Amino acid sequence: MAASLPPLTARPAWQALVAHQRQIGARQLAALFAEDPTRGERLTLEAVGIYLDYSKNRITQDTLVLLLQLAAESGLRGHIDAMFRGDKINLTEDRAVLHVALRAPRDATIFVDGHNVVPAVHAVQDKMADFAERVRSGAWRGHTGQRIRNVVNIGIGGSDLGPVMAYEALRYYSDRNLRLRFVSNVDGTDFAEATQDLEPAETLFIVSSKTFTTLETMTNAASARAWSLAGLGGERAAVARHFVAVSTNAEKVAEFGIDTANMFGFWDWVGGRYSLDSAIGLSTMLAIGPDNFRAMLGGFHAMDEHFRTAPFGQNLPVLLALLTVWYANFFAAQTVAVLPYEQYLKRFPAYLQQLTMESNGKHVTREGTPVEVATGPVYWGEPGTNGQHSFYQLIHQGTHLIPCDFIAFETSHNPLGRHHDILLANMFAQAEALAFGKTAAQVRAEGTPDWLVPHRVFEGNRPSNTLLLESLTPAALGKLVALYEHSVFTQGVIWNLDSFDQWGVELGKVLAQRIIPELEAPTLPPLGHDSSTNALIRRYHQKKRGQG
Ligand code: F6P
Repeated sequence: MAASLPPLTARPAWQALVAHQRQIGARQLAALFAEDPTRGERLTLEAVGIYLDYSKNRITQDTLVLLLQLAAESGLRGHIDAMFRGDKINLTEDRAVLHVALRAPRDATIFVDGHNVVPAVHAVQDKMADFAERVRSGAWRGHTGQRIRNVVNIGIGGSDLGPVMAYEALRYYSDRNLRLRFVSNVDGTDFAEATQDLEPAETLFIVSSKTFTTLETMTNAASARAWSLAGLGGERAAVARHFVAVSTNAEKVAEFGIDTANMFGFWDWVGGRYSLDSAIGLSTMLAIGPDNFRAMLGGFHAMDEHFRTAPFGQNLPVLLALLTVWYANFFAAQTVAVLPYEQYLKRFPAYLQQLTMESNGKHVTREGTPVEVATGPVYWGEPGTNGQHSFYQLIHQGTHLIPCDFIAFETSHNPLGRHHDILLANMFAQAEALAFGKTAAQVRAEGTPDWLVPHRVFEGNRPSNTLLLESLTPAALGKLVALYEHSVFTQGVIWNLDSFDQWGVELGKVLAQRIIPELEAPTLPPLGHDSSTNALIRRYHQKKRGQG
Protein backbone atom coordinates (compact mmCIF):
# COMPACT_ATOMS: atom_id res chain seq x y z
CA MET A 1 0.00 0.00 0.00
CA ALA A 2 2.36 2.67 1.30
CA ALA A 3 5.25 1.47 -0.89
CA SER A 4 3.44 2.49 -4.07
CA LEU A 5 2.76 6.02 -2.81
CA PRO A 6 4.99 8.91 -3.78
CA PRO A 7 7.23 10.14 -0.93
CA LEU A 8 5.37 12.45 1.45
CA THR A 9 6.87 15.71 0.25
CA ALA A 10 6.30 14.77 -3.38
CA ARG A 11 2.56 14.31 -2.92
CA PRO A 12 0.57 17.02 -4.74
CA ALA A 13 -1.34 17.94 -1.59
CA TRP A 14 1.89 18.35 0.36
CA GLN A 15 3.34 20.67 -2.24
CA ALA A 16 0.12 22.62 -2.39
CA LEU A 17 0.15 22.91 1.41
CA VAL A 18 3.68 24.31 1.33
CA ALA A 19 2.56 27.03 -1.09
CA HIS A 20 -0.67 27.58 0.80
CA GLN A 21 1.14 28.01 4.10
CA ARG A 22 3.30 30.74 2.54
CA GLN A 23 0.11 32.56 1.61
CA ILE A 24 -1.92 32.21 4.77
CA GLY A 25 0.63 31.26 7.45
CA ALA A 26 0.89 34.79 8.80
CA ARG A 27 -2.83 35.53 8.72
CA GLN A 28 -4.25 36.51 12.08
CA LEU A 29 -7.01 34.57 13.73
CA ALA A 30 -8.57 37.90 14.63
CA ALA A 31 -8.84 38.74 10.93
CA LEU A 32 -10.17 35.32 10.02
CA PHE A 33 -12.90 35.68 12.64
CA ALA A 34 -13.70 39.24 11.58
CA GLU A 35 -14.12 38.13 7.97
CA ASP A 36 -16.52 35.37 8.84
CA PRO A 37 -18.76 35.97 11.84
CA THR A 38 -20.04 32.39 11.62
CA ARG A 39 -16.56 30.85 11.84
CA GLY A 40 -16.94 29.87 15.50
CA GLU A 41 -19.99 27.81 14.67
CA ARG A 42 -18.93 26.65 11.23
CA LEU A 43 -15.54 25.18 12.11
CA THR A 44 -16.97 22.79 14.65
CA LEU A 45 -17.90 19.17 14.60
CA GLU A 46 -20.15 17.21 16.92
CA ALA A 47 -20.06 13.43 16.84
CA VAL A 48 -20.53 10.57 19.30
CA GLY A 49 -21.08 13.02 22.14
CA ILE A 50 -17.96 15.10 21.56
CA TYR A 51 -18.15 18.71 20.43
CA LEU A 52 -14.95 19.87 18.76
CA ASP A 53 -14.43 23.56 18.14
CA TYR A 54 -11.49 23.88 15.77
CA SER A 55 -12.26 27.41 14.64
CA LYS A 56 -9.33 28.88 16.59
CA ASN A 57 -6.83 27.22 14.28
CA ARG A 58 -4.74 29.06 11.72
CA ILE A 59 -6.60 27.57 8.82
CA THR A 60 -8.97 28.55 6.08
CA GLN A 61 -11.40 26.42 4.13
CA ASP A 62 -8.63 25.85 1.57
CA THR A 63 -6.33 24.51 4.31
CA LEU A 64 -8.92 21.94 5.25
CA VAL A 65 -9.46 20.90 1.66
CA LEU A 66 -5.72 20.41 1.17
CA LEU A 67 -5.23 18.55 4.45
CA LEU A 68 -8.08 16.22 3.56
CA GLN A 69 -6.52 15.73 0.15
CA LEU A 70 -3.26 14.84 1.90
CA ALA A 71 -5.08 12.21 3.95
CA ALA A 72 -6.54 10.74 0.78
CA GLU A 73 -3.19 10.83 -1.03
CA SER A 74 -1.59 9.10 1.94
CA GLY A 75 -3.96 6.15 1.57
CA LEU A 76 -5.68 6.73 4.92
CA ARG A 77 -8.83 4.87 3.94
CA GLY A 78 -6.87 1.76 3.02
CA HIS A 79 -4.85 1.92 6.23
CA ILE A 80 -7.98 2.22 8.38
CA ASP A 81 -9.55 -0.74 6.63
CA ALA A 82 -6.33 -2.74 7.02
CA MET A 83 -6.21 -2.12 10.77
CA PHE A 84 -9.86 -3.04 11.35
CA ARG A 85 -9.47 -6.10 9.12
CA GLY A 86 -6.64 -7.44 11.27
CA ASP A 87 -3.87 -7.07 8.69
CA LYS A 88 -0.37 -7.21 10.13
CA ILE A 89 0.20 -3.48 9.94
CA ASN A 90 2.84 -3.56 12.67
CA LEU A 91 5.42 -4.49 10.08
CA THR A 92 8.58 -4.61 12.14
CA GLU A 93 7.00 -6.99 14.66
CA ASP A 94 4.84 -8.78 12.08
CA ARG A 95 1.70 -8.28 14.15
CA ALA A 96 -1.88 -7.24 13.68
CA VAL A 97 -2.96 -4.11 15.57
CA LEU A 98 -6.37 -4.84 16.96
CA HIS A 99 -7.11 -2.82 20.05
CA VAL A 100 -10.42 -2.17 18.28
CA ALA A 101 -11.24 -5.87 18.77
CA LEU A 102 -11.02 -5.39 22.54
CA ARG A 103 -14.14 -3.27 22.46
CA ALA A 104 -15.99 -4.99 19.64
CA PRO A 105 -19.45 -6.31 20.50
CA ARG A 106 -19.89 -9.99 21.26
CA ASP A 107 -21.36 -10.80 17.84
CA ALA A 108 -18.62 -9.06 15.83
CA THR A 109 -16.13 -11.08 13.82
CA ILE A 110 -12.51 -10.00 13.46
CA PHE A 111 -9.98 -12.42 12.08
CA VAL A 112 -6.30 -12.81 12.82
CA ASP A 113 -4.59 -15.59 10.86
CA GLY A 114 -8.03 -16.94 9.90
CA HIS A 115 -9.21 -17.09 13.50
CA ASN A 116 -12.07 -14.95 14.91
CA VAL A 117 -10.60 -13.28 18.00
CA VAL A 118 -13.81 -11.74 19.37
CA PRO A 119 -15.04 -14.80 21.36
CA ALA A 120 -11.70 -14.99 23.20
CA VAL A 121 -11.86 -11.26 23.98
CA HIS A 122 -15.28 -11.70 25.56
CA ALA A 123 -14.25 -14.86 27.41
CA VAL A 124 -11.47 -12.86 29.13
CA GLN A 125 -13.85 -9.97 29.85
CA ASP A 126 -16.30 -12.41 31.44
CA LYS A 127 -13.55 -13.97 33.53
CA MET A 128 -12.43 -10.50 34.65
CA ALA A 129 -16.02 -9.58 35.53
CA ASP A 130 -16.47 -12.75 37.55
CA PHE A 131 -13.26 -12.11 39.45
CA ALA A 132 -14.05 -8.42 39.97
CA GLU A 133 -17.48 -9.26 41.38
CA ARG A 134 -15.96 -11.78 43.77
CA VAL A 135 -13.40 -9.30 45.08
CA ARG A 136 -15.88 -6.43 45.28
CA SER A 137 -18.50 -8.54 47.06
CA GLY A 138 -16.02 -10.03 49.51
CA ALA A 139 -16.50 -13.57 48.18
CA TRP A 140 -12.80 -13.67 47.26
CA ARG A 141 -10.88 -13.67 50.51
CA GLY A 142 -7.22 -13.40 51.36
CA HIS A 143 -5.14 -16.26 52.72
CA THR A 144 -6.23 -15.61 56.32
CA GLY A 145 -9.89 -15.26 55.37
CA GLN A 146 -9.90 -11.48 55.44
CA ARG A 147 -11.64 -9.39 52.87
CA ILE A 148 -9.53 -7.69 50.19
CA ARG A 149 -9.49 -3.95 50.82
CA ASN A 150 -6.38 -2.92 48.89
CA VAL A 151 -5.53 -3.60 45.27
CA VAL A 152 -2.03 -2.80 44.06
CA ASN A 153 -1.39 -2.84 40.33
CA ILE A 154 2.25 -3.50 39.51
CA GLY A 155 3.16 -2.61 35.95
CA ILE A 156 4.92 0.03 33.90
CA GLY A 157 4.37 1.87 30.62
CA GLY A 158 1.14 0.72 29.06
CA SER A 159 0.64 -1.70 31.94
CA ASP A 160 0.48 1.25 34.34
CA LEU A 161 -0.32 4.52 32.62
CA GLY A 162 -3.68 3.39 31.20
CA PRO A 163 -4.87 1.78 34.45
CA VAL A 164 -3.80 4.66 36.66
CA MET A 165 -5.21 7.28 34.28
CA ALA A 166 -8.54 5.45 33.99
CA TYR A 167 -8.74 4.88 37.75
CA GLU A 168 -8.18 8.56 38.43
CA ALA A 169 -10.53 9.60 35.64
CA LEU A 170 -13.35 7.36 36.85
CA ARG A 171 -12.76 7.64 40.57
CA TYR A 172 -16.23 9.07 40.98
CA TYR A 173 -17.57 5.66 39.90
CA SER A 174 -15.19 3.67 42.06
CA ASP A 175 -15.99 1.54 45.08
CA ARG A 176 -14.63 3.65 47.93
CA ASN A 177 -14.18 0.55 50.09
CA LEU A 178 -11.39 -0.60 47.82
CA ARG A 179 -8.11 1.28 47.96
CA LEU A 180 -6.28 1.24 44.62
CA ARG A 181 -2.56 1.82 44.39
CA PHE A 182 -0.19 1.72 41.43
CA VAL A 183 3.47 0.78 41.57
CA SER A 184 5.52 1.28 38.43
CA ASN A 185 8.96 2.69 39.14
CA VAL A 186 11.85 0.38 39.96
CA ASP A 187 12.84 3.02 42.49
CA GLY A 188 12.07 1.18 45.74
CA THR A 189 10.39 4.31 47.05
CA ASP A 190 7.43 3.66 44.80
CA PHE A 191 6.76 0.23 46.30
CA ALA A 192 7.62 1.29 49.85
CA GLU A 193 5.29 4.29 49.84
CA ALA A 194 2.48 2.44 48.09
CA THR A 195 2.44 -0.34 50.68
CA GLN A 196 3.61 1.34 53.90
CA ASP A 197 0.10 1.65 55.33
CA LEU A 198 -1.35 -1.58 53.89
CA GLU A 199 -2.09 -4.87 55.60
CA PRO A 200 -0.74 -7.87 53.65
CA ALA A 201 -3.78 -9.95 54.66
CA GLU A 202 -6.09 -7.46 52.93
CA THR A 203 -3.93 -6.70 49.90
CA LEU A 204 -4.22 -8.14 46.43
CA PHE A 205 -1.48 -7.55 43.86
CA ILE A 206 -2.18 -7.51 40.15
CA VAL A 207 1.07 -8.09 38.31
CA SER A 208 0.41 -6.53 34.91
CA SER A 209 2.94 -7.18 32.22
CA LYS A 210 2.37 -8.19 28.65
CA THR A 211 5.73 -9.90 28.45
CA PHE A 212 6.15 -10.75 32.15
CA THR A 213 9.83 -10.06 31.71
CA THR A 214 9.96 -6.29 32.22
CA LEU A 215 12.75 -5.56 34.68
CA GLU A 216 10.90 -2.94 36.73
CA THR A 217 7.71 -4.94 37.02
CA MET A 218 9.41 -8.22 37.85
CA THR A 219 11.59 -6.50 40.46
CA ASN A 220 8.54 -4.88 42.06
CA ALA A 221 6.58 -8.14 41.84
CA ALA A 222 9.37 -10.03 43.62
CA SER A 223 9.42 -7.40 46.38
CA ALA A 224 5.63 -7.62 46.63
CA ARG A 225 5.80 -11.39 46.96
CA ALA A 226 8.41 -11.09 49.71
CA TRP A 227 6.33 -8.39 51.47
CA SER A 228 3.20 -10.49 51.21
CA LEU A 229 4.84 -13.69 52.41
CA ALA A 230 6.54 -11.91 55.30
CA GLY A 231 3.19 -10.54 56.40
CA LEU A 232 1.35 -13.82 55.98
CA GLY A 233 3.60 -16.21 57.85
CA GLY A 234 5.75 -17.21 54.91
CA GLU A 235 3.35 -19.80 53.48
CA ARG A 236 3.79 -20.08 49.71
CA ALA A 237 0.12 -20.99 49.34
CA ALA A 238 -0.66 -17.39 50.28
CA VAL A 239 0.58 -16.22 46.89
CA ALA A 240 -2.41 -17.79 45.16
CA ARG A 241 -4.87 -15.67 47.19
CA HIS A 242 -2.93 -12.42 46.96
CA PHE A 243 -1.50 -12.39 43.45
CA VAL A 244 -3.12 -12.46 40.07
CA ALA A 245 -1.43 -11.79 36.75
CA VAL A 246 -2.33 -10.02 33.55
CA SER A 247 -0.09 -11.17 30.76
CA THR A 248 0.36 -12.88 27.42
CA ASN A 249 3.08 -15.11 28.88
CA ALA A 250 1.58 -18.05 30.83
CA GLU A 251 4.91 -19.79 31.20
CA LYS A 252 6.55 -16.85 32.99
CA VAL A 253 3.46 -16.29 35.13
CA ALA A 254 3.61 -19.90 36.37
CA GLU A 255 7.36 -19.61 36.92
CA PHE A 256 6.72 -16.62 39.18
CA GLY A 257 4.38 -18.74 41.29
CA ILE A 258 1.01 -17.38 40.24
CA ASP A 259 -1.62 -20.00 39.47
CA THR A 260 -2.42 -19.60 35.77
CA ALA A 261 -6.09 -20.05 36.74
CA ASN A 262 -5.64 -16.55 38.18
CA MET A 263 -4.10 -15.20 35.02
CA PHE A 264 -6.00 -12.92 32.66
CA GLY A 265 -4.67 -13.14 29.17
CA PHE A 266 -4.42 -10.95 26.14
CA TRP A 267 -2.67 -11.18 22.82
CA ASP A 268 0.34 -9.99 20.88
CA TRP A 269 -1.93 -7.88 18.67
CA VAL A 270 -2.60 -5.57 21.62
CA GLY A 271 0.17 -3.00 21.94
CA GLY A 272 1.13 -2.01 25.50
CA ARG A 273 -0.01 1.59 25.06
CA TYR A 274 -3.28 0.39 23.52
CA SER A 275 -4.01 -2.16 26.24
CA LEU A 276 -6.10 -0.19 28.73
CA ASP A 277 -9.27 -1.96 27.60
CA SER A 278 -7.75 -5.44 27.62
CA ALA A 279 -7.22 -7.43 30.83
CA ILE A 280 -4.64 -4.74 31.67
CA GLY A 281 -7.75 -2.82 32.74
CA LEU A 282 -8.44 -5.33 35.52
CA SER A 283 -7.63 -2.80 38.25
CA THR A 284 -9.99 -0.34 36.56
CA MET A 285 -12.72 -2.96 36.50
CA LEU A 286 -12.15 -3.79 40.15
CA ALA A 287 -12.47 -0.11 41.00
CA ILE A 288 -15.52 0.79 38.92
CA GLY A 289 -17.21 -2.59 38.47
CA PRO A 290 -17.88 -4.64 35.33
CA ASP A 291 -20.91 -2.64 34.17
CA ASN A 292 -19.05 0.64 34.19
CA PHE A 293 -16.06 -1.02 32.55
CA ARG A 294 -18.31 -2.31 29.77
CA ALA A 295 -19.81 1.16 29.40
CA MET A 296 -16.28 2.45 28.90
CA LEU A 297 -15.70 -0.16 26.20
CA GLY A 298 -18.95 0.97 24.60
CA GLY A 299 -17.53 4.48 24.41
CA PHE A 300 -14.35 3.20 22.78
CA HIS A 301 -16.39 1.24 20.27
CA ALA A 302 -18.59 4.23 19.41
CA MET A 303 -15.46 6.22 18.54
CA ASP A 304 -14.01 3.26 16.61
CA GLU A 305 -17.13 3.15 14.46
CA HIS A 306 -17.09 6.89 13.96
CA PHE A 307 -13.45 6.75 12.88
CA ARG A 308 -14.05 3.79 10.58
CA THR A 309 -17.14 5.15 8.86
CA ALA A 310 -17.33 8.95 9.01
CA PRO A 311 -16.18 10.90 5.96
CA PHE A 312 -12.79 12.40 6.74
CA GLY A 313 -14.12 15.97 6.77
CA GLN A 314 -16.50 14.99 9.57
CA ASN A 315 -14.18 12.63 11.32
CA LEU A 316 -12.96 13.77 14.74
CA PRO A 317 -9.71 11.79 14.95
CA VAL A 318 -8.84 12.60 11.34
CA LEU A 319 -9.36 16.34 11.83
CA LEU A 320 -7.35 16.38 15.05
CA ALA A 321 -4.54 14.47 13.37
CA LEU A 322 -4.45 16.69 10.29
CA LEU A 323 -4.28 19.81 12.44
CA THR A 324 -1.38 18.28 14.35
CA VAL A 325 0.44 17.56 11.09
CA TRP A 326 -0.33 21.10 9.89
CA TYR A 327 1.43 22.69 12.84
CA ALA A 328 4.22 20.11 13.19
CA ASN A 329 5.27 20.26 9.57
CA PHE A 330 4.16 23.64 8.25
CA PHE A 331 4.75 25.80 11.31
CA ALA A 332 7.61 23.75 12.86
CA ALA A 333 5.64 23.37 16.09
CA GLN A 334 7.48 20.81 18.18
CA THR A 335 4.93 20.21 20.91
CA VAL A 336 1.22 19.89 21.63
CA ALA A 337 -0.18 20.86 25.02
CA VAL A 338 -3.13 18.87 26.30
CA LEU A 339 -4.99 20.86 28.93
CA PRO A 340 -7.92 19.12 30.57
CA TYR A 341 -10.07 21.43 32.67
CA GLU A 342 -11.09 18.44 34.72
CA GLN A 343 -9.25 17.37 37.82
CA TYR A 344 -10.22 13.73 37.29
CA LEU A 345 -8.14 13.81 34.07
CA LYS A 346 -4.97 14.75 35.90
CA ARG A 347 -3.07 11.74 34.55
CA PHE A 348 -4.45 12.05 31.03
CA PRO A 349 -1.49 14.06 29.67
CA ALA A 350 0.96 11.49 31.10
CA TYR A 351 -1.06 8.71 29.52
CA LEU A 352 -1.05 10.53 26.18
CA GLN A 353 2.71 10.93 26.34
CA GLN A 354 3.25 7.21 25.91
CA LEU A 355 0.40 6.83 23.44
CA THR A 356 1.64 9.58 21.16
CA MET A 357 5.39 9.57 21.59
CA GLU A 358 6.05 5.83 21.74
CA SER A 359 3.87 5.54 18.65
CA ASN A 360 5.13 8.35 16.45
CA GLY A 361 8.54 9.21 17.85
CA LYS A 362 10.21 7.61 14.82
CA HIS A 363 13.02 8.58 12.49
CA VAL A 364 12.45 6.13 9.67
CA THR A 365 9.47 5.25 7.51
CA ARG A 366 7.77 1.88 7.33
CA GLU A 367 10.28 0.99 4.64
CA GLY A 368 13.20 1.94 6.87
CA THR A 369 14.23 5.04 4.97
CA PRO A 370 14.88 8.29 6.86
CA VAL A 371 11.75 10.39 7.25
CA GLU A 372 11.71 13.59 5.24
CA VAL A 373 9.88 15.75 7.77
CA ALA A 374 9.45 16.12 11.52
CA THR A 375 7.36 13.36 13.05
CA GLY A 376 5.54 12.97 16.38
CA PRO A 377 5.47 16.16 18.42
CA VAL A 378 6.11 16.19 22.16
CA TYR A 379 2.83 15.92 24.04
CA TRP A 380 2.61 17.38 27.49
CA GLY A 381 0.18 19.13 29.78
CA GLU A 382 -1.44 19.60 33.15
CA PRO A 383 -4.97 20.14 34.24
CA GLY A 384 -6.38 23.63 34.17
CA THR A 385 -6.48 25.89 35.98
CA ASN A 386 -3.21 24.75 37.61
CA GLY A 387 -1.18 25.09 34.43
CA GLN A 388 -2.31 28.71 34.08
CA HIS A 389 -0.23 29.56 37.11
CA SER A 390 2.92 27.91 35.82
CA PHE A 391 3.69 27.38 32.13
CA TYR A 392 0.89 29.28 30.35
CA GLN A 393 3.13 32.35 30.42
CA LEU A 394 5.27 30.70 27.76
CA ILE A 395 2.29 29.61 25.68
CA HIS A 396 0.93 33.17 25.66
CA GLN A 397 4.09 35.23 25.29
CA GLY A 398 6.96 32.85 24.60
CA THR A 399 8.66 32.33 21.25
CA HIS A 400 7.40 28.80 20.60
CA LEU A 401 4.17 28.06 18.81
CA ILE A 402 2.32 25.56 21.00
CA PRO A 403 -0.99 24.28 19.71
CA CYS A 404 -3.28 23.44 22.63
CA ASP A 405 -6.09 20.97 23.11
CA PHE A 406 -8.49 22.19 25.78
CA ILE A 407 -10.79 19.51 27.17
CA ALA A 408 -13.76 20.04 29.48
CA PHE A 409 -17.09 18.61 30.56
CA GLU A 410 -20.32 20.58 30.72
CA THR A 411 -21.35 19.11 34.05
CA SER A 412 -19.24 18.30 37.07
CA HIS A 413 -19.48 15.25 39.29
CA ASN A 414 -18.78 17.58 42.15
CA PRO A 415 -20.95 20.64 41.56
CA LEU A 416 -19.63 22.74 44.36
CA GLY A 417 -20.99 26.27 44.47
CA ARG A 418 -19.46 28.42 41.72
CA HIS A 419 -16.51 26.12 41.02
CA HIS A 420 -17.57 24.68 37.70
CA ASP A 421 -18.56 28.03 36.19
CA ILE A 422 -15.24 29.48 37.26
CA LEU A 423 -13.36 26.48 35.87
CA LEU A 424 -15.03 26.64 32.46
CA ALA A 425 -14.84 30.42 32.31
CA ASN A 426 -11.10 30.08 32.69
CA MET A 427 -10.82 27.57 29.91
CA PHE A 428 -12.90 29.65 27.48
CA ALA A 429 -10.88 32.71 28.47
CA GLN A 430 -7.54 31.03 27.86
CA ALA A 431 -8.50 29.89 24.36
CA GLU A 432 -9.82 33.39 23.63
CA ALA A 433 -6.69 35.08 24.95
CA LEU A 434 -4.43 32.76 22.97
CA ALA A 435 -6.28 33.37 19.74
CA PHE A 436 -6.93 37.10 19.91
CA GLY A 437 -4.32 38.43 22.31
CA LYS A 438 -4.13 42.07 23.25
CA THR A 439 -2.59 44.75 21.02
CA ALA A 440 -0.24 47.52 22.06
CA ALA A 441 -3.02 50.02 21.38
CA GLN A 442 -5.34 48.17 23.75
CA VAL A 443 -2.65 48.01 26.41
CA ARG A 444 -1.88 51.71 26.02
CA ALA A 445 -5.55 52.61 26.18
CA GLU A 446 -5.64 51.10 29.66
CA GLY A 447 -3.17 53.77 30.75
CA THR A 448 -0.11 51.55 30.74
CA PRO A 449 3.14 53.58 30.60
CA ASP A 450 4.99 53.23 27.30
CA TRP A 451 7.97 51.37 28.73
CA LEU A 452 5.65 48.65 30.09
CA VAL A 453 3.54 48.27 26.97
CA PRO A 454 5.68 45.62 25.17
CA HIS A 455 5.69 43.42 28.25
CA ARG A 456 1.92 43.47 28.45
CA VAL A 457 1.19 42.83 24.77
CA PHE A 458 -0.23 39.47 23.79
CA GLU A 459 0.48 38.70 20.14
CA GLY A 460 -2.39 36.25 19.94
CA ASN A 461 -2.73 34.03 16.87
CA ARG A 462 -1.93 31.01 19.02
CA PRO A 463 -4.04 28.07 17.95
CA SER A 464 -6.18 25.73 20.01
CA ASN A 465 -8.87 23.10 19.80
CA THR A 466 -11.63 22.91 22.37
CA LEU A 467 -13.24 19.57 23.14
CA LEU A 468 -16.45 19.65 25.12
CA LEU A 469 -18.24 16.59 26.42
CA GLU A 470 -21.31 16.39 28.57
CA SER A 471 -19.98 14.52 31.58
CA LEU A 472 -16.95 12.42 32.44
CA THR A 473 -18.71 9.07 32.34
CA PRO A 474 -16.95 5.76 31.62
CA ALA A 475 -18.29 5.94 28.05
CA ALA A 476 -16.99 9.49 27.63
CA LEU A 477 -13.53 8.43 28.77
CA GLY A 478 -13.55 5.58 26.25
CA LYS A 479 -14.48 8.00 23.46
CA LEU A 480 -11.78 10.45 24.45
CA VAL A 481 -9.02 7.85 24.61
CA ALA A 482 -10.08 6.28 21.31
CA LEU A 483 -10.16 9.76 19.75
CA TYR A 484 -6.48 10.23 20.53
CA GLU A 485 -5.59 6.63 19.61
CA HIS A 486 -7.02 7.12 16.14
CA SER A 487 -5.55 10.58 15.80
CA VAL A 488 -2.12 9.10 16.51
CA PHE A 489 -2.81 6.36 13.96
CA THR A 490 -3.78 8.92 11.34
CA GLN A 491 -0.67 11.01 11.98
CA GLY A 492 1.42 7.85 11.60
CA VAL A 493 -0.23 7.09 8.28
CA ILE A 494 0.55 10.57 6.93
CA TRP A 495 4.16 10.28 8.06
CA ASN A 496 4.32 6.67 6.82
CA LEU A 497 5.50 5.32 10.18
CA ASP A 498 5.10 2.03 11.95
CA SER A 499 3.21 3.55 14.89
CA PHE A 500 3.05 0.24 16.72
CA ASP A 501 6.63 -0.73 17.44
CA GLN A 502 8.95 0.88 20.01
CA TRP A 503 12.51 -0.13 19.21
CA GLY A 504 13.72 3.11 20.73
CA VAL A 505 13.25 1.76 24.24
CA GLU A 506 15.58 -1.20 23.72
CA LEU A 507 19.12 0.15 23.81
CA GLY A 508 18.89 1.65 27.29
CA LYS A 509 17.39 -1.58 28.61
CA VAL A 510 20.28 -3.63 27.22
CA LEU A 511 22.92 -1.25 28.57
CA ALA A 512 21.28 -1.28 32.02
CA GLN A 513 21.53 -5.07 32.06
CA ARG A 514 25.27 -4.72 31.49
CA ILE A 515 25.70 -2.08 34.21
CA ILE A 516 23.58 -3.74 36.93
CA PRO A 517 26.16 -6.49 37.70
CA GLU A 518 28.91 -3.86 37.67
CA LEU A 519 27.08 -1.90 40.39
CA GLU A 520 26.26 -5.02 42.37
CA ALA A 521 29.74 -6.57 42.24
CA PRO A 522 31.54 -6.51 45.63
CA THR A 523 34.67 -5.19 43.94
CA LEU A 524 34.55 -3.01 40.90
CA PRO A 525 35.15 -5.07 37.74
CA PRO A 526 37.13 -3.62 34.80
CA LEU A 527 34.84 -1.13 33.05
CA GLY A 528 34.58 -0.86 29.30
CA HIS A 529 32.28 2.11 28.83
CA ASP A 530 33.12 5.63 27.78
CA SER A 531 35.06 7.73 30.29
CA SER A 532 31.97 9.55 31.54
CA THR A 533 29.95 6.39 32.20
CA ASN A 534 32.99 4.69 33.74
CA ALA A 535 33.53 7.63 36.11
CA LEU A 536 29.88 7.71 37.17
CA ILE A 537 29.85 3.97 37.85
CA ARG A 538 33.13 4.20 39.77
CA ARG A 539 31.87 7.07 41.91
CA TYR A 540 28.59 5.33 42.75
CA HIS A 541 30.37 2.06 43.50
CA GLN A 542 32.85 3.75 45.83
CA LYS A 543 30.11 5.61 47.71
CA LYS A 544 28.09 2.44 48.03
CA ARG A 545 31.05 0.56 49.48
CA GLY A 546 31.80 3.46 51.79
CA GLN A 547 35.07 4.19 50.02
CA GLY A 548 34.14 7.56 48.59
O1 F6P B 1 9.59 -0.20 27.48
C1 F6P B 1 8.47 0.00 26.72
C2 F6P B 1 7.40 -1.04 26.90
O2 F6P B 1 7.66 -2.13 26.10
C3 F6P B 1 6.04 -0.45 26.60
O3 F6P B 1 5.75 -0.42 25.27
C4 F6P B 1 5.15 -1.28 27.43
O4 F6P B 1 3.91 -0.68 27.61
C5 F6P B 1 5.97 -1.39 28.69
O5 F6P B 1 7.30 -1.50 28.25
C6 F6P B 1 5.61 -2.51 29.63
O6 F6P B 1 5.74 -3.76 29.02
P1 F6P B 1 5.13 -5.06 29.69
O7 F6P B 1 3.65 -4.90 29.76
O8 F6P B 1 5.55 -6.20 28.81
O9 F6P B 1 5.71 -5.19 31.08
